[in-house]
Amino acid sequence: MTGPLPEPKTRGVDLFERLPDQVSIYEVSPRDGLQNERATVPLRSKLRLIDALVAAGLRRIEITSFVSPTWIPQLADADEVAEHAKPPVGVSFSALCPNPKGLERAKKAGIKEIAVFISASETHNKKNVNKTVDETLRAFEDTVGPAKEAGMRVRGYVSTVWGCAYEGEVDPKKSLSIAKRLVAMGCYQVSISDTIGAGTPRQTKRILDLMLGELPREAIAMHMHDTRGTALANIVVGLEMGIRDFDGSVAGMGGCPYAPGAAGNMATEDLVYMLHGMGIATGIDLERLVEAGKAAESIVGRELPGKVHEAGVRSLRA
Ligand code: HMG
Ligand code: MG
Repeated sequence: MTGPLPEPKTRGVDLFERLPDQVSIYEVSPRDGLQNERATVPLRSKLRLIDALVAAGLRRIEITSFVSPTWIPQLADADEVAEHAKPPVGVSFSALCPNPKGLERAKKAGIKEIAVFISASETHNKKNVNKTVDETLRAFEDTVGPAKEAGMRVRGYVSTVWGCAYEGEVDPKKSLSIAKRLVAMGCYQVSISDTIGAGTPRQTKRILDLMLGELPREAIAMHMHDTRGTALANIVVGLEMGIRDFDGSVAGMGGCPYAPGAAGNMATEDLVYMLHGMGIATGIDLERLVEAGKAAESIVGRELPGKVHEAGVRSLRA
C-alpha cells in the first residue's frame, strides 16, 4: 500500500495560460512518410496525395527528397514529382536536400524551399548520410549559401535530439550547437527532431529551455515521431514554451529508414484535432485532412496508425 500523495507545492496552475491563437503546421508525409514505405508508390499517386493535402488547407508541404536514389529508392522520382506538383498561390512546396548535387536538382525542378538535415549523434548521421557531423556541416556550407543566393528559403533539421537508436542519450548541448550553426548559415528555421519517438515531457522542457535560451522561438520547430505515444504530450510542452511550428505526417505515415524503430510520425490529424480542441487555429479543415489520410492509406496499401485517422473526427456539436 502506498501512503497519501504529498500535497502539490502550489495550487495555482498556470498550464495553458500562454497558448497561442494559431500555429503553423509543416506537412512531411510525401517525404518522411513515403521514404519509409516498402511499396513503390507511382508518381500519379504521390501527386494525388499532395493535392489532397493542399485541399485540406496545408500551406507548407515537404513533397520529396533530392537524395541519392540508391539510398532512398522510394523517392527516386523526386525530379518528376517537383516538376509536376506546382504549389497554388500561398502554398510552399519544399524538398530535402543533403548536398550541392541535390541543390542542382532542386533548382532545375523549380523548388523554392529546401531542407538540409543532420543528426546530433555521430552514428545516426554516418548511417543516414555517410558523413561525420563536421563533414555534413561543411557540405551544408556549400549548399545553404548557394541556395539562398538562388532565392530559395532553407530550413534545417537536427535529428536524434531526444535520443539515438545507436548511441542512446544525446547531449542537448550538441543539438543546440548544430542548430545555431544552421541558423548562422541562413536556415530560417530548424526543426528539432525526435527521430525515434523516445521523448518525454520533462526532457522536452530541458531541451527547449536550452534552445530558447539562445535562439528565437521562430527559429525552432518540433518534428516529433510518435513511436511511444508521447508526441502530443511533448508538443503541449512546446506550445507552452512558445513553439509555434510543428511538423506532422498525415495518418502517422513514416519514419526514418536509417533509424530502426522510427516508424510513426506525429499524425497531422491527431495534432490538428488537439489544437482545434484547445482553440488554436491551424487553417486546416480537419474533415478534409481525414480524407487526405484515407487517400494516403489507399496509396500505400496498408493500414496507417493515426488515432483520429482510425477513430474519426468526433463531432463536439452533437
Ligand atoms: P554517398 O554514397 O556517400 O555519396 O551518399 P557520394 O557523394 O559519395 O556520391 C555517391 C553517388 O551518389 C554519386 O554517383 C553521386 O553523384 C550520387 P555516382 O558517381 O556513383 O554515379 N549522389 C547523388 N545523387 C542524387 N542526388 C544527390 C546525390 N548526392 C550524391 N543529392 C548521400 C551521400 C547524402 C547522397 C546519401 O547518404 C543519401 O542520399 N542519404 C539520404 C538518406 C535519407 O534520405 N534519409 C532519410 C531522410 S532524414 C530523416 O528522415 C530525418 C528527418 O525526418 C528528421 C527526423 O525525423 O529526425 C528529416
Ligand atoms: Mg522524421
